[in-house]
Amino acid sequence: MVAKSLDRFILAYLEEATTKVSAADLIRICAQTFQIHRSSVKRALRRLAADQRIQYTNLFGGTQVDLAWSRPRQVSPRILLCPEESVPKACGAPGAVVLRIAGGAAFGAGDHPTTRLALQALDAMFAEKRISQGATALDIGTGSGVLAIGAVLLGADTALALDIDPCALWEARGNVAFNDLTTRIRVGDDAVEDLAQTFDLVLANLRLPTLLRLASTMSRLINRDASVVVSGIRPEETADLVKCWSDIGLQPCWMDSCQGWAGIGFYRSSRMG
Ligand SMILES: C[S@@+](CC[C@H](N)C(=O)[O-])C[C@H]1O[C@@H](n2cnc3c(N)ncnc32)[C@H](O)[C@@H]1O
Repeated sequence: MVAKSLDRFILAYLEEATTKVSAADLIRICAQTFQIHRSSVKRALRRLAADQRIQYTNLFGGTQVDLAWSRPRQVSPRILLCPEESVPKACGAPGAVVLRIAGGAAFGAGDHPTTRLALQALDAMFAEKRISQGATALDIGTGSGVLAIGAVLLGADTALALDIDPCALWEARGNVAFNDLTTRIRVGDDAVEDLAQTFDLVLANLRLPTLLRLASTMSRLINRDASVVVSGIRPEETADLVKCWSDIGLQPCWMDSCQGWAGIGFYRSSRMG
């Protein structure tokens, strides 16, 4: 009985964690909460790791515990993210979508908070009609293709998914096919500065210096009514980005943070003047 409650507590704690959780802290917190010996908590962690419910990572020599990404996970109200090998039984909420990502080397399997923040922003902004059904999307730095695929599954008409990394391009193409979206998503290595088209939605999980450098290109790439979703920045960097992009008419309309990362949804409307 205690074992089951302990497992549930550990999984819920990791799900809700807003910062990285060290193994040592988790063991201490569980032992205090349940008034049990640390060895019992260690046994629970071993059991959850063997069941692929949690995974260990090493950060600067310290062991961190995180939820494992080998099972379907509800990353936002409507997006169920599924690794290749799992077949979801149900899709959850009305309008829910199943986003399939094969395990690979490219960034964007869902195990990083920046990916999840961007997917959460997308879901919220579609729900609030900040992004229109039928939008045209551009994903700069697509990695596994996850954001472009998420955007099209939620209602974008088409997406152009760009990356500079050959491995990412290969895996993104595989994931696009895996989600049956080859007619709606093109994956390519075009330089974003050379694009002639304009878009209703831009997705960019990139670091701050790249995002700041992109400001003038972004201004040219987006339609007068457009949305931009960014993640990959730190909470303390958001003010710089908001200030820089206000010059091109982009106003923040969604913001959240998780485990030391921030995501922002921006909106530009011709009705804003
Ligand atoms: C943090 S990963 C994001 C992957 C995925 N979009 C996600 O949200 O999980 C950033 C990706 O951007 C790519 N990248 C970096 N600079 C780029 C640039 N200037 N143009 C296109 N891709 C770029 C990297 O190769 C990498 O795959």
